[in-house]
Amino acid sequence: MKINVNGKELTIDVTANPSLLEALREQLDLTGTKYGCGEGACGACKVLVNGTPLPACITPAVTVQGKKVITIEGLETNGELHPVQQAFLEVDAFQCAYCAPGMIINAVALLEKNSNPTKQEIVDAMNGNICRCCTYPQIVEAIYQAGKQLA
Ligand code: FES
Ligand code: FES
Repeated sequence: MKINVNGKELTIDVTANPSLLEALREQLDLTGTKYGCGEGACGACKVLVNGTPLPACITPAVTVQGKKVITIEGLETNGELHPVQQAFLEVDAFQCAYCAPGMIINAVALLEKNSNPTKQEIVDAMNGNICRCCTYPQIVEAIYQAGKQLA
């Protein structure tokens, strides 16, 4: 099956009905998207599908046919990090960073809808993303700073 990922038409094998996460990581070598809980509860595996952040671990790959998938690897433009990626680096919004790709993907979707959210709006929008290192204050601050830049 053809799949559009980060602006490229790629081919995946859907014989074994892989999840989108398995297809990305195991077939396309896009390992920036992480496996956490495997049941849609932690947000580590989020990718954008037609602009909506979805947990790739519980999204069958066949369901994204004809849609545009963006992973963490697809956020940069001409070698420039996305403002949310840059803000996470500047604010140091991670310890182990395992949650960061899913956090950043979710934050990008938030800022596309609401480019200058309040901290409470950020907390509400990031509710489905878990950080086991508990760097939540820095994560909220990074998204807040990115919003200020994008507003
Ligand atoms: S690994 Fe997909 S939501 Fe946790
Ligand atoms: S920085 Fe370790 S899980 Fe978030």
